[in-house]
Amino acid sequence: MLKVINVVGARPNFMKVAPIVAAMKQRPTDFLPLVVHTGQHYDASMSDAFFTDLDLPQPDIHLGVGSGSHAAQTAAVMERFEPVVLNEKPDWVLVVGDVNSTIACALVCVKLGIKVAHVEAGLRSRDRTMPEEINRLLTDQIADLLFTPSQDADQNLLAEGIPQTRISFVGNIMIDSLFKNLERARLSKIKADMGLSDGEYAVLTLHRPSNVDNRETFERILTALETISVRLPVIFPVHPRTRKTIAELGLTDRIAATKKLRLIDPLGYLDFLNLYSTARLVLTDSGGIQEETTALGIPCLTLRENTERPITVELGTNVVVGTDTQRIVSEAMTILEGPVNRDVRHPPLWDGHTAERILAVLRELQLSDKL
Ligand code: UD1
Repeated sequence: MLKVINVVGARPNFMKVAPIVAAMKQRPTDFLPLVVHTGQHYDASMSDAFFTDLDLPQPDIHLGVGSGSHAAQTAAVMERFEPVVLNEKPDWVLVVGDVNSTIACALVCVKLGIKVAHVEAGLRSRDRTMPEEINRLLTDQIADLLFTPSQDADQNLLAEGIPQTRISFVGNIMIDSLFKNLERARLSKIKADMGLSDGEYAVLTLHRPSNVDNRETFERILTALETISVRLPVIFPVHPRTRKTIAELGLTDRIAATKKLRLIDPLGYLDFLNLYSTARLVLTDSGGIQEETTALGIPCLTLRENTERPITVELGTNVVVGTDTQRIVSEAMTILEGPVNRDVRHPPLWDGHTAERILAVLRELQLSDKL
């Protein structure tokens, strides 16, 4: 029996941990999973909604950390997670993604000699001004086991001197949640409630500090949205960070004047899946949404200068357009004026079975006593 602590902290973690915990619960003789929520995200719409939508069991332990500076948040997670690990003595701690909770919990574990595995390892934007890039680099250096979503990630890790024995290419865990919930998501009423028809609207998400905390960049994006929204409604579920900076930067009136740019509260997993899965176009600065749109063949424009997920550009539907107004508009128009193309190509092992492969590796290591 392997006792495994599965760490969740922020919104993009929940859909990565849910399929792993579900798979462990199906094998109660082999795995005892615990869920620890750091509380990095705490709003009902950023956290609770995902437990319900994803059938993720309520956290066994909630650390209640909340918001703060990067240092304060990371330190608070570490201080509160350490006694949990000492008390529970897990065989493994699983951390996912690249948020502050990921590095904080991984660091606690290595210092205590508790084995830690990183799911979604090896992604690199090569942009060290991104807080997530630092979290990825450090977590991968210290974790015992690195589960990668794509083979470019393996190459990144090997190039950083990480031995092959610590790396396991298992595929993309987010796609497990996506495939599992696609049917359920069709029952969502979000489009009917908003009066939207399939293929006749765009979806926008925006929350990176480099985009929304910077007036010039935010305004360049907004100018592009003013043009695009003349063509079709743009539905914008607004992250709390973005909601705050819109007010702080004095952009509220300008946005309100852009009639077909429709701001709504953050959506739960199923409503959001329902919404983007029939969008004509998605514009985003999120990492995960680049992958989800690729898996469904929905055109995606990434409003960043780089991506840590190059496979979504090579094999998927993603185009990295940056934040130049003209470039965003011209790429959007190319898509809107072109044929609707649903020629979906799934990157290798984005097949809905990543959780099973992760469990198989953990079991194999236990049986062979290799790590
Ligand atoms: C975090 C992750 C980012 C991920 C994003 C998804 C890090 C470094 N960043 O960024 O990788 O893409 O989550 O959402 O870990 N807030 C609320 N309610 C909440 C959560 C946050 O109001 O439930 C507000 C707070 O004012 C907070 C701000 O949003 O200060 C930012 O939250 P934080 O967790 O620090 O970073 P995110 O921008 O959400």
